[in-house]
Amino acid sequence: MTRTVYVNGDYLPETEARVSIFDRGFLFADGVYEVASVVGGKLLDFHAHAARLQRSLAELEMHSPVDMDALLQIHRELIAKNDVDQGMVYMQITRGAPADRDFHFPDPDQVAPSLVMFTQSKEIIESKTAETGIKVISIDDLRWARRDIKTVQLLYASMAKMAAEKAGADDAWMVEDGFVTEGSSNNAYIVKSGKIITRQLGTEILPGITRAAVLKFAAEAQMEIEERAFTIEEAKQADEAFFTSASAFVMPVVSVDGVSLGDGLPGPVSRRLREIYIDEAVKTAI
Ligand code: PDD
Repeated sequence: MTRTVYVNGDYLPETEARVSIFDRGFLFADGVYEVASVVGGKLLDFHAHAARLQRSLAELEMHSPVDMDALLQIHRELIAKNDVDQGMVYMQITRGAPADRDFHFPDPDQVAPSLVMFTQSKEIIESKTAETGIKVISIDDLRWARRDIKTVQLLYASMAKMAAEKAGADDAWMVEDGFVTEGSSNNAYIVKSGKIITRQLGTEILPGITRAAVLKFAAEAQMEIEERAFTIEEAKQADEAFFTSASAFVMPVVSVDGVSLGDGLPGPVSRRLREIYIDEAVKTAI
């Protein structure tokens, strides 16, 4: 099926959408993005994604070509045009396309930012992977130091996924100065003696929208939470582990660097949090 995508004000068949070869997203990875999930044709956590987008833009002195109400309307229009029941909406804003390649930022009054968006239809609630859990390996975190900004420079994340695949695993948890930062495209957690442990926010990790929601629901369910960095050794000795992201919700992790956690099956805390997150997020979807 040919998707209808959005590019700078137009809804077009995906085969007809174009951006300039001078777009700074293409030449400099000078852009930010968000991925919001769709369930029952409605968006999960949209306002939190919009708020993080605005923060990413501000950190990079970039502007949005549309306000957040218009952005929501475009999301809804794309969901409707593509008849998406479950899946994701990807949106990306880059610093636009100046007349030539130049390291300096173009004058924002002369060069408008580019906004592109597309949908991905995918069954995300019923997940075979969530039933079996996934395997992670550890890998050095060689990304830049402002991971709190959701930029489109995802080459290292892509390399991390390929390294995991080569090792017969599903994802890689990245380690810096001996401590886990995050997964290639998700936030990482371990559970020890009932306590949920996840790295505190900072420039080292992305402030996950799913992370914020899951920690809130966990606190409301009287679960114990500790926000601190943990090592891969600690992860190997954990009772269970999981990761969170908009596209995978809460995903159980059953082995770390080849070491099985607990009985090698998704743990009770991960399973419960997945259920709670999906219930609550669907209730408040817009
Ligand atoms: N990735 N950390 C990184 C490095 C990420 O790329 C992501 C999300 C997260 C989780 O954030 P959130 O809960 O807001 O999705 C953490 C998206 C899903 C992606 O790149 O596809």
